[in-house]
Amino acid sequence: MRTTTLSLFISMLVLCVVGICQGGALRKNFYKDSCPLAEKIVRDVIWKLAASDPALPAELVRLNFHDCFVRGCDASVLLNSTPNNVAEKDAVPNLTLDGADIIDKVKDEVEKACPGVVSCADIIALAARDSVAFQFKKPMWEVLTGRRDGTVSLASEAVANLPQPSSDFATLRSNFAKKGLTLHDLVVLSGAHTFGHGHCDAFSKRLYNFTGKGDVDPSLDPTYAAFLKTQCKTLSDNTTTVDMDPESPQSFDNHYYVVLKQHKGLFQSDAALLTNKMSSNIVDELLNQNKFFTEFGQSMKRMGAIGVLTGNSGEIRKKCGVVNS
Ligand code: HEM
Ligand SMILES: *[C@@H]1O[C@H](CO)[C@@H](O)[C@H](O)[C@H]1NC(C)=O
Ligand SMILES: *[C@@H]1O[C@H](CO)[C@@H](O)[C@H](O)[C@H]1NC(C)=O
Ligand SMILES: *[C@@H]1O[C@H](CO)[C@@H](O)[C@H](O)[C@H]1NC(C)=O
Repeated sequence: MRTTTLSLFISMLVLCVVGICQGGALRKNFYKDSCPLAEKIVRDVIWKLAASDPALPAELVRLNFHDCFVRGCDASVLLNSTPNNVAEKDAVPNLTLDGADIIDKVKDEVEKACPGVVSCADIIALAARDSVAFQFKKPMWEVLTGRRDGTVSLASEAVANLPQPSSDFATLRSNFAKKGLTLHDLVVLSGAHTFGHGHCDAFSKRLYNFTGKGDVDPSLDPTYAAFLKTQCKTLSDNTTTVDMDPESPQSFDNHYYVVLKQHKGLFQSDAALLTNKMSSNIVDELLNQNKFFTEFGQSMKRMGAIGVLTGNSGEIRKKCGVVNS
């Protein structure tokens, strides 16, 4: 009996070290007693900002993804570089990751009510949820809380852990598996590309030099490829952006899958989801919008539990951009 308990304990420990313990210590409304207004403050600030900035939800959902995929959901994505360290923020794949300033604004308001209590990591997760909730005037997924903030942020880890827009199916799948996420999570969470934009250089190889022979990616709809060329005029354009969902660029819906089936997914990583039978079956399932909403919520919950720091690990940062001194 004792050995069974011990080996269970050890295997859980091993899983946690690998970074896939499913955040068992996270709870619903963790700040109920320590900062009862925390979640309301986050929502109020985010809804106020979202009312005047329709790009906000996409920025915050992407920020949430990047935070969780590098060192777990520990707000390491918000740390600034220092003279001795290049932080995640300044890694190449940041490709203009916005939203850190928004989290700072929320944090300032939360600190006024309860100094030193609410983590930046929880604020990211809540803010992402609430920004999408603004469109529906109700939350579309549940966010458990109790995350603590990390003290380390390395640009090299962002490069190593974040999937690339040029990634193929096998690479994407193993990238997600390393985070304890399934093929299903991969297809469902890619649905976040239903809003927001991409910079031309994330996909212009598909338009101008797909195999190095000046060719177009044959898996891209030719009419759409021609349109994209009118937006991204050269292979090296790294300033122009294009909407990811051409029909409803700022709305959170399941059009991503509709667009994908029309071979108008913007990145190779999007098109890749049609290159595997199991994956394309999941794409078909998600053409049902209610199914997508339910599944997205569940996958966000799993993503939000990746490698979290809880209990006495980490710290509650005073300012989200710097570790406490
Ligand atoms: C499957 C692998 C993924 C790859 C290769 C990928 C890659 C990218 C790239 C290259 C951009 C464009 C950034 C830019 O040029 O400004 C982008 C945007 C975005 N991604 Fe992903 N992504 C992936 C998965 C995800 C996931 C899992 C989420 C969230 C759950 C997500 C949410 C977003 C959002 C919302 C945007 C738009 C950001 C904005 O408009 O500000 N992505 N992604
Ligand atoms: C992204 O990285 C570049 C360096 O590659 C850096 O100059 C830029 O400030 C970073 N952007 C953000 C938003 O941190
Ligand atoms: C297209 O790719 C090939 C092979 O990588 C390269 O030699 C060529 O310079 C590229 N063309 C342009 C216009 O960049
Ligand atoms: C965009 O391209 C120019 C010219 O190649 C380069 O100097 C600049 O650093 C690039 N900017 C980003 C954000 O990658």
